[in-house]
Amino acid sequence: MSIPNPIPHYEVGHETIDSHHKEIFHLISSLDAVIHTNRRENIESIIVFLESYMLEHFEEEEALMKAAGYADYEFHHREHEIFRLRVQELRKFYTSNAPNTHLVFNIRRFVDRLVDHILTVDSGIAGIAHQS
Ligand SMILES: [Fe+2]
Ligand SMILES: [Fe+2]
Repeated sequence: MSIPNPIPHYEVGHETIDSHHKEIFHLISSLDAVIHTNRRENIESIIVFLESYMLEHFEEEEALMKAAGYADYEFHHREHEIFRLRVQELRKFYTSNAPNTHLVFNIRRFVDRLVDHILTVDSGIAGIAHQS
């Protein structure tokens, strides 16, 4: 049985992009599990996931927008740049031996902002994603 999506109506109509977004929604429950285990290596694996997500997923969206001549590309790209900086800050925070509770709090805030981006900014590419 598949897990019901906690946030409906987020799909942009592009299989890969939508499946990446779904991974972010699932990450919220992974974070809850990490809080319970309180193990540092589990926290790092989430940061590693976010680092690769920033590379692969954002590049995919940007390539799609460029190919379609998307009018709001510059704004969307700037938003991605902010997230790329924020994930570097998360990594620095991790390597500075910040306590687990602070790390989890910051990761949760990061993921919340990412969900907001999916719902308010990524939703704008639904029109072009359906055509590709
Ligand atoms: Fe996205
Ligand atoms: Fe995006």
